[in-house]
Amino acid sequence: MQGTSLAEKEPSHTAPVSLSIRNTTLKFGGVTALDDVTIEVREDELLAIIGPNGAGKTSLLNVTAGFYRPQQGQVEMSGRDITGLRVDQVARMGVARTFQGTHLFAGQTVVENILVGRHMRMKSNIFQAFVHFGWMAREEDMHREVVEEIIDFLEIEPIRNRAVGTLGYGLRKRVDLGRALAQEPDILLMDEPMAGMNSEEKEDLARFILDVREARNIPVVLVEHDMGVVMDLADRVVVLDFGQVIAEGTPAEIQKNPAVIKAYLGA
Ligand SMILES: Nc1ncnc2c1ncn2[C@@H]1O[C@H](COP(=O)(O)OP(=O)(O)O)[C@@H](O)[C@H]1O
Ligand SMILES: [Mg+2]
Repeated sequence: MQGTSLAEKEPSHTAPVSLSIRNTTLKFGGVTALDDVTIEVREDELLAIIGPNGAGKTSLLNVTAGFYRPQQGQVEMSGRDITGLRVDQVARMGVARTFQGTHLFAGQTVVENILVGRHMRMKSNIFQAFVHFGWMAREEDMHREVVEEIIDFLEIEPIRNRAVGTLGYGLRKRVDLGRALAQEPDILLMDEPMAGMNSEEKEDLARFILDVREARNIPVVLVEHDMGVVMDLADRVVVLDFGQVIAEGTPAEIQKNPAVIKAYLGA
């Protein structure tokens, strides 16, 4: 039987490592955002990263995605060293992310924003293609097909031609997920996707995250504040505090870890 429910799904602990962050330190002047952080993400897991504000969660995603180069340590994707590669190079290595807040083009339509995710797979520059030349027919067909699948998958057909700036927050986050999926990534990093959502929007997005895992079979790293969401979705949880990993375990283990309660849950 394909597609066991998530509740029954136990990560094997033997699946190959997808993303490996080793002994990574990132400093901004006197601030140590990441302090000798080591985290492995296996191909079959949804790993949640939690921790108080300023703990280094976004920095960890930024180092992974090539936004910042760590002063120390290595980042490997599928066994290949990606430390210090540019954002577009890391994207080509199969890493996609969604952003805290929204980083979409507000004046562009839903379809156009999702097409941005195809950019790295295009021979022609997407903006030149839009502005100067129109689509090159063959490329268009190929990319359109992927985008149509994503629109269908995320159930955003009715809003496909709306400018993203006119959409509510929940839908914008869904479009951001669509843009990331358009990269056809091997791993998906999500930075507090539920922040600012109402409970219905959270439930919707949670369902899409589970669907992504089932349909794409890729690992997900979910930075998330909502502990209910983490407990529901995560196979494993890593807790950051002041740039250090202070705990790691199943959601149930993390919930009763005294150091975690002190640093985070009790706060
Ligand atoms: N671009 C930056 N310049 C200077 N300091 C930064 C920068 N980005 C993050 N920091 C600092 O690094 C620490 C970790 O921040 P961040 O990774 O954003 O934490 P989190 O996402 O867990 O809230 C904080 O002290 C923050 O102020
Ligand atoms: Mg953050």
